Amino acid sequence: MTLASGLDADASAGAHALARYRSEFPIFRDAVYLNTCSLGALGDRTRRRITEFFDLWQARGASAWYDVWWAALGELRARYARIVGASPEEIALAPSVSVALSTVAEALDYRRRPRVVVTSLDFPTIAYQWLAKRARGVELVVVESPDQISVPVEAIARAVDDRTALVATSHVYFTSGAIQDIQRVADVARKCGALTLIDAYQAVGQVPVDVKAAGVDFLTAGGLKWLLGGPGIVLLYVRDELARRLAPTIAGWFGQKNQFDFDPRAFELHDDARRFELGTPALAAVYAQLGGLDYIDEIGVPAIRRVTAALTEDLVARARESGFRPKVAPRAEDRSGIVMLPVADPAAGVRHLAAGGIIADARPGHVRLSPFFYNVQDDHVSALERLATHTGH
Ligand SMILES: Cc1ncc(COP(=O)(O)O)c(C=O)c1O
Repeated sequence: MTLASGLDADASAGAHALARYRSEFPIFRDAVYLNTCSLGALGDRTRRRITEFFDLWQARGASAWYDVWWAALGELRARYARIVGASPEEIALAPSVSVALSTVAEALDYRRRPRVVVTSLDFPTIAYQWLAKRARGVELVVVESPDQISVPVEAIARAVDDRTALVATSHVYFTSGAIQDIQRVADVARKCGALTLIDAYQAVGQVPVDVKAAGVDFLTAGGLKWLLGGPGIVLLYVRDELARRLAPTIAGWFGQKNQFDFDPRAFELHDDARRFELGTPALAAVYAQLGGLDYIDEIGVPAIRRVTAALTEDLVARARESGFRPKVAPRAEDRSGIVMLPVADPAAGVRHLAAGGIIADARPGHVRLSPFFYNVQDDHVSALERLATHTGH
């Protein structure tokens, strides 16, 4: 990915084809926002959709459930499905990745396959899910990263065997921004009869994802970051055959086929991925996500990827020129919009940036900068200049 392919000729001003959307994200009036990998910026369309929900709540109360709100849930499942290449019947809604993981974890049989394989770079809520089941005999296998940037698929292959129930790992590592080849991970798992679950929270919205091409069994992602929908709403993809067969042992009425029979003696799960749903979805979050998707769908993830990849390369190059040593994947095509800059006191670095109106984040040993399509090269210049006055680069 060259700079020229994503950023236009007017590079001195940092302009690119998607910079026109920036005016719809008011945070840029007062700040330089470089933290989408923590929380996507609030867009005007997202705010309008949330307001629409409040207006309906005020005007119609619960009667809005029967037509508009129920339909909004269906619309969201369908739009989530499109963005990951699934069918709407393969999508369940959940309030967080941790809850989505719980429903999957409670649907697996660990008797003959007690092992779950994760990597040391995955977001730890994945590991916690199965560490919590240690007393039941579930064994977590953590595959180490040799460079703290990525994990060789060969190392994952060595950890997977015929006692492995599941390989659960990231599409994009939150620790390095490196993109993992999830198709190869799924192949490795399948060869041993294990299933694959992908935490794609840091991927969906910024890099194209196709669950069918990748051959994964489960995938989760959500609104918080690259889908611009804020907290409280995520998707769980469950491959069609599993969505009809697996039965989670935690349950709620939204997973029930005859939800409105209100019969405490009957228990019949939906015939699709909705059997992984539990209780009433947070509608404000659903509406916020629909608004966020209005941007993502209008632009399209391939176009977002082109611009974000070019911005990432610009940030990496400028950081190196300024004397930083970004911890990123060696090849540009394996990088995403998360750039880790090793800094002695990252929390102080982030506070120093914030005092200058630049919003970034700290992770152990690093300041984390995270460009998206609404950023421009001038944001990188401002952030690096300000950070250099703190680090003395
Ligand atoms: C890759 C990844 N997975 C999961 C989470 C958190 O998931 P949740 O809080 O929805 O359970 C995060 C960060 O917020 C993340 O970066």
